[in-house]
Amino acid sequence: MKELRHLINITDLSIEEISHLVEIAEDIIDNPENYQEACAHKKLATLFFEPSTRTRLSFTAAMMELGGNVLGFDQAASSSTAKGESVSDTIVMASCYADIIAMRHPKEGAPFVGAKAATVPIINAGDGGHFHPTQTLTDILTIHKKFGRMENLTIGLCGDLKFGRTVHSLIEAMLRYEGVKFVMISPEELDLPGYIKESMDEAGIEWKEVRSLEEAIPELDVLYMTRVQKERFFNEEDYIRLKDSFILKRNMLRPAKEDMIVMHPLPRVNEISVDVDDDPRAAYFFQALMGKYIRMALILFMLGMK
Ligand code: CP
Repeated sequence: MKELRHLINITDLSIEEISHLVEIAEDIIDNPENYQEACAHKKLATLFFEPSTRTRLSFTAAMMELGGNVLGFDQAASSSTAKGESVSDTIVMASCYADIIAMRHPKEGAPFVGAKAATVPIINAGDGGHFHPTQTLTDILTIHKKFGRMENLTIGLCGDLKFGRTVHSLIEAMLRYEGVKFVMISPEELDLPGYIKESMDEAGIEWKEVRSLEEAIPELDVLYMTRVQKERFFNEEDYIRLKDSFILKRNMLRPAKEDMIVMHPLPRVNEISVDVDDDPRAAYFFQALMGKYIRMALILFMLGMK
């Protein structure tokens, strides 16, 4: 019997498997007609206990473009969670109705708990301030499309590095590529968690922390901006004090490399001024589009079809 696989953390995938997914996604981009019926009669359940625009809609679009069907809910309140059903029971039920499940939850570890109960593949679509592996696959496809490589890149990560699950997963993935360096740009209170710093040290990669975005920009190949996430704060005063710590404006890109790219998992609030959108280095809307293609590749892979 084939082993049941889940994607909870990006480290569940080897570098070779990530390259395979990027290859599939790039083939889908070039030859979409070859994939239109690939998932005919298959069903994806999108179980979103926390709000989403890109992740849920791109998973939905991905399954539709593969010729499959989608069911699910977009808030806990419209599921039996509101009546007290456990995550495990919800996943057992969804496993009865779907071939694969994409699940987002505000509690760290909830998809791991779900995976223990599942009889179909579970994909973590974001768990609290923990991990967001499919965003990382999106980011990797974006970087590969823009640079044609993953190695020898200096990546600046700016904003909420403490609760930023997209940042945590991206670091866990990128530290496996040769010659990658990180520049962490955050207020002290939103520094990276210790366990992520330990992962970088164990991997022996070069990284540093700085407090000035302007000073960091000239050396970067990728500037990865993130939102200070109101929903992760216990105290609104702290959020208000920290929310506008870093705002990227177009004039700040003057000393940047010509081929640097500005990424953001989105949604943005204030941290990238809209006047950056027209700069050729702005890659965040392209990045959101890549999310659909890599999720198409991932669905095929998790279903054992590629
Ligand atoms: N990047 C991302 O996870 O966006 P959503 O919260 O809109 O899904």
